Amino acid sequence: MKLNPETLPKHIAIIMDGNGRWAKKRFLPRIAGHNKGVETIKEIVRHSNKLGIKVVTIYAFSTENWGRPEDEVKHLMNLPKKFFDDYLPELMENNIKVQTIGDIKRLPKETHNMMKEAFKKTENNDGMILNIALNYGSQHEITQATRLIAQAAKDGDIAVEDIDIDLVSSYLETANLGEYQNPDLMIRTSGEQRLSNFLLWQLAYSEFYFVDKFWPDFTPEDLEIALQSYADRNRRYGKL
Ligand code: FPP
Repeated sequence: MKLNPETLPKHIAIIMDGNGRWAKKRFLPRIAGHNKGVETIKEIVRHSNKLGIKVVTIYAFSTENWGRPEDEVKHLMNLPKKFFDDYLPELMENNIKVQTIGDIKRLPKETHNMMKEAFKKTENNDGMILNIALNYGSQHEITQATRLIAQAAKDGDIAVEDIDIDLVSSYLETANLGEYQNPDLMIRTSGEQRLSNFLLWQLAYSEFYFVDKFWPDFTPEDLEIALQSYADRNRRYGKL
């Protein structure tokens, strides 16, 4: 597909849904769907980077996902290792920087260490950012920001009148993404049409794209179709 680089989103956020159903359809255990899902991430990150996208945020584990059966949670916690063990060299080669949002300190020690290693190895890369939402929940993020802002006001570091949209944004976990903080396009696979506590503030003006394919079946061609759909839209930000 011939995409016009000028009309591409800078930041894409993805809710990778449908791994379990993909597996069920094939009479496989749910973890087989997650494993295949990891392969899809690699392809989509590779392709996004090739197209010149600046930030890709993927929803890997939500604060609600702890409620899944213990075995599945355990498997999901091993996926970062599975992902980075063979993909980190390629991330380095492509100058991709790994970041996270979410409370990663509460992850199992091994998972936390794997993430820290990925940050450390890629910290000087200045190409595309792969932002992984891990133990992330947007309501928690906004609540945390509110607390910090209230404390700053109480301590006299800011005046209540200083609290505006930019200030609130600067207290969110995505603040270091700067001009790319808010995704231009949010893609959710599997046909479900909801946000599931993902980037509620940051997606205020984003275009949404829902696709009726399970995440393990989502291909670079599907990504291009989503990007073309985005390019064909007319973003008005509430204006005419
Ligand atoms: C949704 O499918 C998918 C998840 C909850 C996990 C997705 C995570 C990965 C693919 C790995 C990410 C890891 C890293 C750090 C690279 P589902 O299980 O909700 O599917 P269902 O709705 O069909 O049951």
